[in-house]
Amino acid sequence: MEIIRAKNYQDMCRKAANLIFAQLIQKNDSVLGLATGSTMVGIYKDIITRYSSGDLNFEKVATVNLDEYLGLPSTNPQSYRYYMEENFFNHINISPKNTYLPDGMCDDINKECKKYDMLIDSLGGIDLQLLGLGLDGHIGFNEPGNVFHKNSHCIQLNESTIKANSRFFDRIEDVPKRAITMGIGSIMAAETIVLCVNGENKAPILKQVLYGPIKPQIPGSILQLHNNLIVIADADAFKEISF
Ligand code: F6R
Repeated sequence: MEIIRAKNYQDMCRKAANLIFAQLIQKNDSVLGLATGSTMVGIYKDIITRYSSGDLNFEKVATVNLDEYLGLPSTNPQSYRYYMEENFFNHINISPKNTYLPDGMCDDINKECKKYDMLIDSLGGIDLQLLGLGLDGHIGFNEPGNVFHKNSHCIQLNESTIKANSRFFDRIEDVPKRAITMGIGSIMAAETIVLCVNGENKAPILKQVLYGPIKPQIPGSILQLHNNLIVIADADAFKEISF
């Protein structure tokens, strides 16, 4: 595990964007695993800035997102497809056909999950996976449970996740209760994983994820077993870890 200590959120974003930059310089047809949420907003902004200055080309890049709410069409501003277009895809020269998220409006959830896993396989797996961290230790929407789910699956969101995500919705009742998430297997199979964490409220869970026992009750703890995990966190998130 490589630990990169950022001064603050801006610094964390710049460092994460630099890693994406390095990845695309080395492999211009990379498959990027992407996440949504507030942690990622500044990272996408910084990547767009580098793209705008002519440093990056996404023509041959493919992206696979971690998750999508069930029941929200892509036109709904709360859907993760909408988020990705607003915050990232609309600002770079990526071909829309190379951007993948689970279909939250699918008729057959099991079929959609299998299709998503097959898609990731057909792309040759993920070169670099960007991850945020949930307050309950979730990665993607792999919520705490009794097992690590290997494959893409439908998940019932935890009360704490619904509460945390309600900040993006008018009312907490509007937050979807279910989502499709990439499984732990596809995440762990990524060549490189970049876990980005900021803020004091994530300090206790970050400590457990990085140095606590590896268990499905703390899904992110499995990242300790990855061969090429890079953790970029700001000083607030590292507050409970002594270096
Ligand atoms: C979203 C995702 C989630 C978030 C996590 C942190 O696609 O995969 O695991 O990364 O919930 O969310 P924020 O960044 O909003 O604190």
